[in-house]
Amino acid sequence: MQPSQLNSGLHIVSTGMYVPERILTNDDLSKWVDTTDEWIFSRTGIRERRIAAPGELASDMGAKASIKALENSGIAASEIDLILVATVTGDAAFPSTACYIQHKIGATRAAAMDLQAACSGFIYGLVVAEQFLRSGVYKNILLVGTERLSSIVDWTDRATCVLFGDGAGAVLLSSRAGHGGMLSFDLGANGDHHAMLKLNHIHREIRFGEPPVPMQQPCIHMTGKEVFKQAVNAMAKSANKVMEEARLKVTDLRLVITHQANSRIIEALAEKLSVPSEKCFTNVHRYGNISAACIPVAMHEASQQIEFKRGDKILLVAFGGGLTWASCVIEW
Ligand code: ACO
Repeated sequence: MQPSQLNSGLHIVSTGMYVPERILTNDDLSKWVDTTDEWIFSRTGIRERRIAAPGELASDMGAKASIKALENSGIAASEIDLILVATVTGDAAFPSTACYIQHKIGATRAAAMDLQAACSGFIYGLVVAEQFLRSGVYKNILLVGTERLSSIVDWTDRATCVLFGDGAGAVLLSSRAGHGGMLSFDLGANGDHHAMLKLNHIHREIRFGEPPVPMQQPCIHMTGKEVFKQAVNAMAKSANKVMEEARLKVTDLRLVITHQANSRIIEALAEKLSVPSEKCFTNVHRYGNISAACIPVAMHEASQQIEFKRGDKILLVAFGGGLTWASCVIEW
């Protein structure tokens, strides 16, 4: 899809991030499950991940990232029109994590809602935000990706527990007239593969005539090899589509920010897209996969390292449970 050429679309005003202090290294993990730093690093590129403190929830991390984004923006919390939160590990089934963040940052005027597209959630959120900004309905939108994946990981399953971590990123978006903003986007899903990567809700079954059984905490289930293949193919297809729609070549891009699941996925995708490694931002070695928080945390860190100039074009691309995928090209 191509947003209107004469858009008054999305402008990235500022970014912010927060990761918990506690670091869990691969060596720490090797004391819990039969694994090694060498195995994890060679298969995933991950060295360590952050783990939320006891009682530290997705909204706490999201609020801290949001406050940083607000501090960097010159916009007051009371000027935010809408808070959108992408998460699969929200504080509660309801209220939304967006409502908790609204309360914690004092964004009293803002509407608030969560959206869920697993690891693709942040880019889905960016596209939703763009619609509100381009139509002129809202002026300032706070988009947050925040995850406490440590609470849904089975820490005895070595095939999954090495991959995930906790953290949050936030982006403050405003409408801006003229060129730039979101040049193209692609959102997609394939529910046929819903079982490939999932976390079940607790559906309590009450059986008459039988004594109640204790409830068990659900945790992430994944068929890793299949997810790997699907991720690389879907992200490559989606990224090519948005590049074509924006009429851009790889040489026109300042940076590519992909979902940070695994360095082998990022490398395979970069190869398929013919993107040189220096154009591909990576921080997976420090945080592991933080699902919907990967892209905003990467955007924040990238903007600290690279001084983006107006007109710089950035390709964002993500993939996650659903299966879902999403990509877009934004002009800084
Ligand atoms: N340490 C040591 N050995 C392990 C570990 C571990 N942590 N985990 C699995 N193994 C073993 C397996 O038991 C298996 O042993 P076996 O051959 O005796 O049966 C062996 O290592 C190979 O296992 P594979 O699953 O074939 O390993 P693979 O090379 O496929 O790597 C991995 C596994 C890293 C999960 C890979 O499939 C992957 O990256 N998949 C993508 C998953 C992903 O990133 N999901 C995140 C969500 S989706 C997204 O964000 C894109």
